[in-house]
Amino acid sequence: MSNANSQLKHGKANYNIAIDGPAGAGKSTIAKKLAKKLGFIYVDTGAMYRAMALYFLKHDIDASDQERIATSCKEVDITIEYKNGEQFVILNGENVNSLIRTEEVGNMASATSVHKAVRLKLVELQQELARKENVVMDGRDIGTYVLPNADLKIYLTASVKERARRRWTELQEKGLVADRDEIERDIEERDNRDMNREFAPLKQAEDAIYLDSSELTIDEVVDKIMEYFNKIINDKEV
Ligand code: DC
Repeated sequence: MSNANSQLKHGKANYNIAIDGPAGAGKSTIAKKLAKKLGFIYVDTGAMYRAMALYFLKHDIDASDQERIATSCKEVDITIEYKNGEQFVILNGENVNSLIRTEEVGNMASATSVHKAVRLKLVELQQELARKENVVMDGRDIGTYVLPNADLKIYLTASVKERARRRWTELQEKGLVADRDEIERDIEERDNRDMNREFAPLKQAEDAIYLDSSELTIDEVVDKIMEYFNKIINDKEV
């Protein structure tokens, strides 16, 4: 029986897997593992929005200042590099990976990603990567807008309570004190903004598979997606 890896070794054209879902559903952990198993490139589109947000924060640009945001988009240079399978986001020549994981940057990314100028700039970069490589790409609008023809689309979600619990545990492990209710409110606010913005909001694509990870382990989710993907490969073969 063929599987994704053996099929790819036979020189098939490149494959695109899209994983969308709300903050804290486990997208990046799962997408990363999946990409490793398949030998694909993992494209973390959230990191690109975070890098733009970092630029706006550094330059004191207000999230609602549409005009300055549009002008800055023309000045900002964002590129992506890969070393040993890890994605590095380069903002105007600087590797900003270690600067973009804060709540402040995450919230700013959510607030500024509503602007069309920001989205159009990054979508182009994302589509170019997917044209050249086998990718597992995660984000909010990948299946609906960035890669409408992706071979496999997953809508990965989990309950707000479970996502808040995971985030809280993560912070605890880093030795940081956090209020669970506040995290929950933050998540709800982020969901609300990401799902209700005008341009390319977060929603399940019609042809996406809905996966609720609340009661599943990371490996169980990865295995499920592998199964779906192998089925697609096998179906294409016949
Ligand atoms: O996945 P993340 O938390 O790193 O993303 C940060 C924010 O960026 C998210 O709240 C909304 C925005 N984003 C987006 O609008 N579209 C994407 N494809 C990825 C992220």
